[in-house]
Parts: sequence; structure tokens; C-alpha cells
Amino acid sequence: MLITFEGIDGSGKSTQIALLKDKISSLGKTVQVFREPGGTELSEQIRSILLSKDSDIDPVTELLLFSSARSQLVSEKVLPALERGEVVILDRFYDSTTAYQGYGRESLSLDNIHHINEIASHNRAPDFTFYLRLSLKESNDRRANMSKDRMESSGDEFFHKVIKGFDDLAEKEKRFVIIEASKTIEEIHESIFKVISGKLD
Ligand code: ADP
Ligand code: TYD
Repeated sequence: MLITFEGIDGSGKSTQIALLKDKISSLGKTVQVFREPGGTELSEQIRSILLSKDSDIDPVTELLLFSSARSQLVSEKVLPALERGEVVILDRFYDSTTAYQGYGRESLSLDNIHHINEIASHNRAPDFTFYLRLSLKESNDRRANMSKDRMESSGDEFFHKVIKGFDDLAEKEKRFVIIEASKTIEEIHESIFKVISGKLD
């Protein structure tokens, strides 16, 4: 089973992924967690380029770098783990590309981005996508004392467009489960586990 987590920065993805991983492991299933961009040596190198404030990256190049990191992760780690019957949880996947590069940067048409997403994911769609929906204000409040990477320094107007991207995807894609990310950590964990508990064979 492939489970992905999406949402703007600070929406609680890492927190919920750690809880879900422990819960699924406690049931005796093998779970692998990878972050995007990242999860392989090559993809982590691409991550440092993408997030470094010293990088001056053209929007199409940015889209292709996120996609390259993804293709490597999917072929090197995700597909083999799924083949072994393991549960794979991804901290972001191609919906982030649609929201950040498509809606946020408007780097290419959504059709083109959809096509690149299919290629970079080797045509493997998630079974469930948990979208942790949070307002920009709450996200900024949560991250007030944290330093910002290149993507996080993109400004409020950019992030309003990113949120619109995730909201549109959630409306369109059946695999999306919308979670109100302003609830407590425990409430969110329970509602996430409720969705997948019956589906783990
Ligand atoms: P993300 O991985 O989406 O960037 P994190 O899990 O790192 O988000 O959470 C960002 C910050 O918000 C952390 O300080 C975390 O402790 C806090 N946080 C996470 N979930 C909640 C929640 N439901 N309510 C309040 N704060 C939260
Ligand atoms: P990360 O620290 O992993 O995210 P978070 O702050 O939510 O924990 O940083 C990854 C950044 O890259 C984040 O700002 C979202 C962005 N991103 C894209 O713009 N496109 C993508 O395809 C992916 C996977 C991430």
C-alpha cells in the first residue's frame, strides 16, 4: 500500500507520519517512510540543490529537478518495497509538484505537469493521500521561529496559490482524504488510522 501525505509546510505531515508508522509497525507490518525530495543518495543531493537559498533555479528546471528526485526514489526504493508487500509512506509526492510548481510557480500547464508526474512516478499512483489542510496564517504561526529554506521563502501570494492547488486536487481526486490540520495531534492521528485500518491485510 502506498500512502502519501500532502499539505503546506508546517501542516503536521512529519508528526502524523511518525505516529502512523509506529502504529502500523505495532501491527506487525513492515513500513518504510521516505521524504520528498529525498529518500535516496541521489535524491538527497538534488534536495540540497532545490532547497539551498544559494541556488538560482529557473521554474521549469525546478519542476524537472523535483521530478528527477522522485523518479529515482520510486525506482530505487518505493517500487521494490511495494513489490515485497510492504507499506510505503511518503512525506509529499507528485501532488506537491502540481500544487507548488503548477499552481504556485505556474511553470508549465497543468496538463504538462500531469504528464511529467506520471513519468516521474513510473505510473504508480498513491492508494491514499492524506491532505492536512491548514490556513497560511496557522502555518506561519507554527513556523515563526524556524529558518526558511528557498521554497519556504516564496511569499504569501505563492502559498495562497499552493493551497488552492491542493484544494482543487482534493476535490478532483478520489484517493484524497481531507484532514483539518488545526485539530489536535491525537485527533488527527485517530482519523487517519480509521481510514486505513480496515485496508491493511
Ligand atoms: P510538516 O512536516 O508538515 O512541515 P511538522 O510535523 O514538522 O509539519 O509540524 C510543524 C510544527 O507544528 C511542529 O512544531 C509540530 O510540533 C507542530 N504541530 C504538528 N501538528 C500539530 C497540531 N495538530 N497542532 C499544533 N501543532 C502541531
Ligand atoms: P520539506 O522540508 O520536506 O517540507 P515541509 O516544510 O513541509 O516539511 O521541504 C520540501 C519543500 O519542497 C517544501 O517547501 C515543498 C517543496 N516541494 C515542491 O515545491 N515540489 C515538490 O514536488 C515537492 C516534493 C516538494
